[in-house]
Amino acid sequence: FLPKKKKQKDCLINLKIQKENPKVVNEIDIEDLNCTNVCYCRCWRSKTFPVCDKSHLKHNELTGDNVGPLILKKKIV
Ligand code: FES
Repeated sequence: FLPKKKKQKDCLINLKIQKENPKVVNEIDIEDLNCTNVCYCRCWRSKTFPVCDKSHLKHNELTGDNVGPLILKKKIV
């Protein structure tokens, strides 16, 4: 039996990104996107966080997980 706090610690999602901060928050102005597609990381393994670098592929292969990026698409008018 593990104490509740210990169990929760064993389930960390963020292993290394901005650990010096109490909370990782990224704010992106959608008007500043100057390309049609941008992929944002949801697996917390990207070396270019918050942008996806496809590290989720290795994470999924190693863990059996099924995570992937958030893809923002901008309509060209
Ligand atoms: Fe994290 Fe792609 S690298 S979702």
